[in-house]
Amino acid sequence: MYHSGPMTEFPIAWIRSQFPALNAGDDFIFFDNAAGAQAPQNVLDAVHEHLFKRNVQRGGRYRQSREVDAAIAKARESVALFLNARQSSEIAFGMNATSFIRIVSVALGETLGDRREIVVTDLDHEANVATWLALERVGAKIRWWPIRQDGRLHPADLDELLGAKTRLVACTLASNAIGSTVDVAEVARRAHGAGAELFLDCVHYGPHGTIDVQAFDCDYLVCSGYKIFSPHMGFLWGKQAALDALPTFREDFIPDQAPFKIEVGTYVYENVAGMSAAIDYLESLGRKLATNKAPTSRRENIVRAMEGIRAYEAKLSVEMLRVAEEVGGIEVYGVRDPALVRHRTPTLCFNVQGVTAAATCEHMAEKNIAVRDGNMYSPRLMVRLGLADPRGAVRASLVHYNTIEEIQRFGQELRQLRSR
Ligand SMILES: Cc1ncc(COP(=O)(O)O)c(C=O)c1O
Repeated sequence: MYHSGPMTEFPIAWIRSQFPALNAGDDFIFFDNAAGAQAPQNVLDAVHEHLFKRNVQRGGRYRQSREVDAAIAKARESVALFLNARQSSEIAFGMNATSFIRIVSVALGETLGDRREIVVTDLDHEANVATWLALERVGAKIRWWPIRQDGRLHPADLDELLGAKTRLVACTLASNAIGSTVDVAEVARRAHGAGAELFLDCVHYGPHGTIDVQAFDCDYLVCSGYKIFSPHMGFLWGKQAALDALPTFREDFIPDQAPFKIEVGTYVYENVAGMSAAIDYLESLGRKLATNKAPTSRRENIVRAMEGIRAYEAKLSVEMLRVAEEVGGIEVYGVRDPALVRHRTPTLCFNVQGVTAAATCEHMAEKNIAVRDGNMYSPRLMVRLGLADPRGAVRASLVHYNTIEEIQRFGQELRQLRSR
């Protein structure tokens, strides 16, 4: 894996200036990024330009249609670089992550053979659980990989679950609910050792750190663009041979090859153009972070941006945990030790003693702070944590445009709540 070397200070003022929604003139604090992040100006421009200049179907001979073909090809190249894919034909565009997971699960369901066991986790978003559980109808056997008391999945626990019958391990890179990250390269080593494939849900991790499908050595990986500073869309990566082998639905005139066999039908081209621009934005951030202004490759800039984001977000995580500790009476779920923030994203799931999750979010909403309560679409994890509906928890999910000052204002409001 490429390492980006020394970096300049994190340019938070420049970053915030790129996001119009953060500069609307009020004191809005957006801590609901795990449900979808804001988009920078160049993404808004790309979507607008697409609709204005080339809102036509691809595949025609006229200029505007050829431009759509070119925009999709460019987006595929950019996403391939973002993921470190071997080739851009391994990238399929579509509506969202859930529909892609289901496309793969239906295809796998048709090819289970003697390997009928699928490993799922109790840390994952339900999108990466229910889609696999649905295969029980066609004879799959589900094996559960549970988190330990520390709120983390430990790859060593997989060994007793894997065997000659394991077809696939489906797990996340990071929990959208409690932020715990997973050592997926180690998961791949163990899964492949047993002859199984690995499907990774990268939706929550996407905006938080470097994605490298070659270093992860996974077989499939899915992301939602709208978590990565783009409009609503999703993309699936798979090893070319694995995607080509999937029995997907397609009309006869669609080639039996990835990406076409995965993305049958028309998707939202303007949002794909937006995703492409979101990667341009990350590259600009990577260039800004370089101490040495010598030209670097697009991938190097992306990696530098994501490493810079990861390091900056570790500081946000430490500050969130510090504030929670200082306020007192805040129960944080998942990784709580500031020395272990490398095992989490700045996604803090908690409850305030004596205050319901809903009341905490109501209070924050009155103060113009966006946080979310509920089960975070990880209902099994919530049961595991003793937070089954209707109790739930509060989630404050930050990304790289959030600041220490915002966390401190959030802390003041937590203090207010405690003193009521
Ligand atoms: C970790 C994770 N996986 C899957 C999903 C579902 O993604 P989509 O809305 O793109 O289907 C989400 C959405 O929040 C998520 O956070």
